[in-house]
Amino acid sequence: MPPIPDLTNRKRAVVDVTNWTYFNPVRIVSAAGSSARLAEHIGYQRVALVTSPGFTRRGVVERVRTSLGGRLVAVFDDVKPNPDVLDVDAQADALGPLAPDCIVALGGGSSIDTAKGLARLLSQPVGTTLAAHFRDGIAFDGGVAALPVVAIPTTAGTGAEVTPFGTIWDFGLGKKYSVTGTDLYPAVAVLDPELTLDLPEEVTISSGLDAVSHALESTWNRNASPITLGMATKSLPLSLPALERLRVDPRDVAARSAMMQASLLAGLAISQTRTALAHSISYPLTTGFNLPHGIACSFTLPVLMKFNAVADDGRLHDLARAVGHADPAAFSADLCARFAALGVADLFRRHVPDMNAAMELAPQMITPGRADNNLRAVSAEDVAELLVASLAQVDSNYLAHASRPVAPAS
Ligand SMILES: [Fe+2]
Repeated sequence: MPPIPDLTNRKRAVVDVTNWTYFNPVRIVSAAGSSARLAEHIGYQRVALVTSPGFTRRGVVERVRTSLGGRLVAVFDDVKPNPDVLDVDAQADALGPLAPDCIVALGGGSSIDTAKGLARLLSQPVGTTLAAHFRDGIAFDGGVAALPVVAIPTTAGTGAEVTPFGTIWDFGLGKKYSVTGTDLYPAVAVLDPELTLDLPEEVTISSGLDAVSHALESTWNRNASPITLGMATKSLPLSLPALERLRVDPRDVAARSAMMQASLLAGLAISQTRTALAHSISYPLTTGFNLPHGIACSFTLPVLMKFNAVADDGRLHDLARAVGHADPAAFSADLCARFAALGVADLFRRHVPDMNAAMELAPQMITPGRADNNLRAVSAEDVAELLVASLAQVDSNYLAHASRPVAPAS
């Protein structure tokens, strides 16, 4: 009988992983074709659907309409990537008079984030705006729960279908805000991998790398628990091979399905831990250069793996072994090679051609509530060094790697 490794006496580095809470109330439906049978999965009677124009064009909205019939009272198909605070306020103004009893989000992270912003606003007194809340500090009425959100993700990566936070951007002021609260956990998440079959390659890679980042960020995280560590350990062996396969065949149904499960597991993990240093570093690059979130929060991961290995209490070794490596250093090298093959450097350089301009943002990259979750404590000097090393890695991959360029989203 092979010996069972004894994990009971692991050294405690920074975190006591026996001291934790877990709460996630999202009902999850996972089945191919489930989005076309939405009426079977929700009981709401005045549904407002928010999505982006492509889903109307491709007939997906029509399938939802056929399923819901007269219960669908509004379709807003004008969600843009990275929702801006003023756009969400305008959508809430238009939607309020229709008195929806739930918001269904059909789309990627931007649609789900928009739905969470709308769900928060539409339960508040008329005239409440996100701009007044975030820019002027006007408090929401804390006694009123948000409208329920039903999330139908059409990308695999954000995990927003099972998290209680939504990201709203303020491009006018160059800021990022979060709507959050336990009432913003979606009521239902409907996972239909068929919706991801036609995703453009750039979106597949970028959103998929977001899921990779979530799994890693929930692991080198002070809020990790045995449950979240288990989810991350199940997520990465799905996402990393799936992304490799989808680069070859975007209509590989098994890989699409694996990627959606990986995204869900990583999303469940960060719903408890939140993200950490890679996300903290990412935000100024997205507001400053419009760098897609999944690229911005993943190009640092190989370097952060080695940085956090110094504080490892065994969890990073476990994760490395789960994907076939002896230790975090070997896993870091593998991530670097995989990212090169996926074209991460190319995607990064399309948006950030000037590495010096990226370095100038380093002082803004310690985001409270993210950087302080990181397993290893981090200083401003550390962030600058980590950024230099990560940008150098992007540059060397960009120059050395001659793989097929990633097809753009549009
Ligand atoms: Fe993310």
